[in-house]
This record gives sequence, C-alpha cells and structure tokens, in this order.
Amino acid sequence: MVNPKNDKEIAREILDIKKTLGQELLILTHHYQRKDIVDLGDYRGDSFGLSQKAAADKAGRFIVFCGVHFMAESAEILSQPHQTVQIPAVEAGCWMADMADIDIVEEAWGDITSITSSDSVIPIVYMNSDAALKAFCGRHGGAVCTSSNAPAAFRWGFGEREKILFFPDQHLGRNTGNQMGIPPEEMIVWDPAKPLGGNTQDSIKKARVILWDGYCLVHTRFRDKHVLKMRERFPEAKIVVHPECTEDVVSLSDAVGSTSFIVKYLENAPIGSTIIIGTEINLVNRLALENPEKKVLDLYYSLCPNMFKINLGNLLWTLKNIGQVNVVTVPEDTKKDARAALDRMLALSPKALLAKKGDSFKERQTARVTTR
Ligand code: 13P
Ligand code: SF4
Repeated sequence: MVNPKNDKEIAREILDIKKTLGQELLILTHHYQRKDIVDLGDYRGDSFGLSQKAAADKAGRFIVFCGVHFMAESAEILSQPHQTVQIPAVEAGCWMADMADIDIVEEAWGDITSITSSDSVIPIVYMNSDAALKAFCGRHGGAVCTSSNAPAAFRWGFGEREKILFFPDQHLGRNTGNQMGIPPEEMIVWDPAKPLGGNTQDSIKKARVILWDGYCLVHTRFRDKHVLKMRERFPEAKIVVHPECTEDVVSLSDAVGSTSFIVKYLENAPIGSTIIIGTEINLVNRLALENPEKKVLDLYYSLCPNMFKINLGNLLWTLKNIGQVNVVTVPEDTKKDARAALDRMLALSPKALLAKKGDSFKERQTARVTTR
C-alpha cells in the first residue's frame, strides 16, 4: 500500500512547483484560511485587498485563489484576459451569498421601484454575492462594497440617490447605517418570502436603507451574552468584532472592522494587552500565534466550513494541474457589468473603517462617517 503524503511533504511539493512557475503564479489567500495555506501564499488579505491585488497583477499567468468562490469569481472578473483563475475547492461557497439570487433580487427591485421610482434607489451589493448580482448593480448604476469600505460606499450611494438597497448582509448594512447615524426607523428589512418584503408602501417610501434579510451563520453565532461574559472575565480586554455580527454584539464591543482592520488592530495593540476577537476562528488562532506578546482570545468558537474546504491536498492538486482544473469562469456579458460595479468599489477607499468611541488606536481617526 502506498503511504499517504504527510503535510510536510505536500508543502515541499507546493514550494517546488512555486519555484518552477516563479512570477507566472500568484497564490492569493484570504485571512480565514488555515495557517498552512496562508504560509504558502504570496499575498494574504481581506476581500478588498485581494481584489486590489488581482486587479493589479498583470505579470502572472495563473492566479490560484485560496478563499471562497465569490472571491475567486471577483478575481476572475478583475484579472487580465491572459490570466486564469483557479480555486482549489469549487464547492467552497458562502451561505450568505446564497441568500440572494438574481431572480428574487430582480423581483424585489421591480416592487421597490414601482413604489419609489428607479432614480431614487441605488443598489449596493456586498462582495459576498454571485457575479450576476454584481452585474445587476453595474447595470443599475450601483456598486459592490466590502466590509472595509461599506461606509464609503454608503456615502457615495447617498450622493447618487435618495435610498440604498443593500444586499445580502443585513447586519453589515445595519451596522454601516448605524455608524452613519441613520435612525432605525429609516432602515427596513426586505424579506423576499413576503409580499413587499414584509413592508408597507408607506414604510418603503420613508426608508433610506432597505436591508436584504441575509446574514452570515459564522458571525451571527456571536451573541451579546458572549461579549458580556468575556467582559466579566477579562475586564481589562478590548473586544474587536467583524461588521457581519449583529448590532447588539457590535454595540457592546470596542471596535468593529474588516478582517484586515482586525489584523491591524492587533498589530497596534500595546504589548501585554488582551484582545478578544469576534470573527472566524482560523484568523483568531493565527493572530494568537503571530502575536505571542499579546493575549489573543476568541469571543466564541466559530469556524467557516466553506473557507476550511481549501486544504494542502487540493492546493497541490490544483498546482499540479495549473491552468487546467477548477478554472473559474464568468460569462462575458455578466463580466462586463460586474466589472463596472467592482471598479466603482475599487475607487471607494476603505479608509472609512468602522470603529467605535473610546478606541485609542490609530484607525479611530478615520472612523467618522457622515451622511450628506
Ligand atoms: P472581509 O471582507 O473582512 O475579508 O470578510 C469577508 C468575509 O467573508 C467575512 O465573513
Ligand atoms: Fe460567507 Fe460567513 Fe464564511 Fe464569510 S464567514 S465566507 S460570510 S459563510
């Protein structure tokens, strides 16, 4: 019987292939990837940073994306025609992205614009979505945003039109609206299973933000009771969470921001401090290893099984079949419109990171966002 290869042997083979392919290969890894994958990548980042990298890289022929499918799809849309994007596990989807599809969004858009007219509402789609939804936004003058530039995207959206339809993550949308001081009664939730999304014509007319009823199962596992319990156990600690968490969790925390914001927050934390993190466990565990002089704890254990589908075995298999297997493709017409919405996103600086009062870190200075 042939002995299965151990992780060290697989990693060595991956490094050999990387050496052979040199500049022709770019391995991008999201912050939620496990450590052994991140260690083998050329660049790690949040979904905004990875898109920027994919758009900027002109030299490579092969981009291997270690993250979930919508991220690889966005890289494919932003990459050059001579480049091929591959994902080691095509089945690495995103539950939240699956909560909105083009048919139900088109239907909701028809309902909303029959009440408000299409020049009063702008669609903004979270990066965590299918290419067809990004293309929908491109066609209707809207944009894509990520968790790092959502406030900038909202500010831009309100500069264009009176209302924003935001999908699919209601929590990122609500946290961004809260940060901008939009009153709760002006933010309504659209439940696609109900007539008019569960709203009245009047509430749709009055709303400034219409939030799709989607959420991340990984981040909504964090509850206010976890924050309260950790505060009691570690009164000296700072708590930082991702904006896909509920507004209750966010309001009890010290800071909120994208995965890259969280990484920076840790870097800037004083030596000896205790930081409790509310996001995917692989990032928390890696940050604990990388910051031994700080105490890094998870708010609660929460793993994204989709991100975890990428492993050393399927990364090696992809590299051995470079340019051939698990190639990510997007139809040309979808690509053109989705690219327009992604280009608008790339033009929106992520410097308006979400953060909270009392946060003494540098990012705090850039946190203020205002409505027009
Ligand atoms: P970031 O944009 O912070 O990388 O987050 C992506 C994501 O899927 C979080 O669940
Ligand atoms: Fe999707 Fe949530 Fe996983 Fe992010 S953590 S990829 S939003 S399921």
